[in-house]
Amino acid sequence: MITGGNSGIGRAAATHLAEQGAEVIVACRSRGRGEEAVTEIRRRSGNDAVSLVMMDLSSKSSIQAGCDAFKAYHDRLDVLIHNAADFDISRKEPEYSDEDVETVWATNHVGPVFLTHLLMRELSRGEQSRVIMVASKGLVMHPFLRVNLEDPEFRKGSFRVDKAYYQSKLAQVMYTYWLAERFRGTPMTANCVRVTNVKIDINRYPSVSSFLKWLYSIKSRFSISPERMAETYVWLALSPDVAGTSGGYFDENRQRVGSNRYSTDPSNIRLVMELTERYVPGLLANPS
Ligand SMILES: NC(=O)c1ccc[n+]([C@@H]2O[C@H](COP(=O)([O-])OP(=O)(O)OC[C@H]3O[C@@H](n4cnc5c(N)ncnc54)[C@H](OP(=O)(O)O)[C@@H]3O)[C@@H](O)[C@H]2O)c1
Repeated sequence: MITGGNSGIGRAAATHLAEQGAEVIVACRSRGRGEEAVTEIRRRSGNDAVSLVMMDLSSKSSIQAGCDAFKAYHDRLDVLIHNAADFDISRKEPEYSDEDVETVWATNHVGPVFLTHLLMRELSRGEQSRVIMVASKGLVMHPFLRVNLEDPEFRKGSFRVDKAYYQSKLAQVMYTYWLAERFRGTPMTANCVRVTNVKIDINRYPSVSSFLKWLYSIKSRFSISPERMAETYVWLALSPDVAGTSGGYFDENRQRVGSNRYSTDPSNIRLVMELTERYVPGLLANPS
């Protein structure tokens, strides 16, 4: 299962996984975009075992409904790739979901944690199941970044979308380390991808200003393709080279990379996961 498999890197990875003969479930928030992607991935891969499950990662009730739909037909999950993310760089004010959670935090951190939590039984039935988180090379530019334990949703402090985005991605890196520890002694693994500068379709974000579009056009000259970046996803998902590898953070060249010192400190990881448990009750009690 890959979230956000209708676009960009997620779509490229879903196509590649289908080409390798995997059954692929694309989790999307838009039925129209999801159905279009599934049809195209089936056509390109020649694999009909590609299906859609509807899921808005910013909403726990939607994730629950998507999981219920998945579980109606599957009792096992081998690979879960948390690729979807909210990174609308034009946002000036925080937005809060129907469940009253700031949407970047909800989509990029709480949603993936909740999704893994709900699918833990199915993951544990796989022979060697793999959970793959997705973070960003941009974190390198923020070596002193921390998760704001007091105000992760910008209810008190001033909002900046890049702050919200990188905080959520740092939390995903820390979640990877935590989950890998939880999986220790089991055949399950958790790893994270450090996505570099990858071409996106900037027109997917209609409210981005002409100036930002111009800046993006310059930046994209130095970008790699989604297909190239997806190679690391597919390697982590399928390769026997990484069977048993857990708690790793890997770049576009499949090289192991580090994250900032704060994120590797076990007491900080614990605090971030205690914060996360407020959104995902029972998280710390269960082996998830
Ligand atoms: N491109 C880069 O340079 C770059 C750099 C660093 C990290 N990354 C990371 O790489 C991953 C893939 O990004 P990309 O470049 O492939 O971008 P993309 O083409 O914009 O794909 C993002 C995907 O996330 C989905 N999504 C967003 N909010 C969602 C929600 N609430 N519920 C469900 N799905 C949602 C989008 O669905 P819709 O089609 O419905 O919007 C889309 O499928 C993300 O985790 C991103 O943070 C990318």
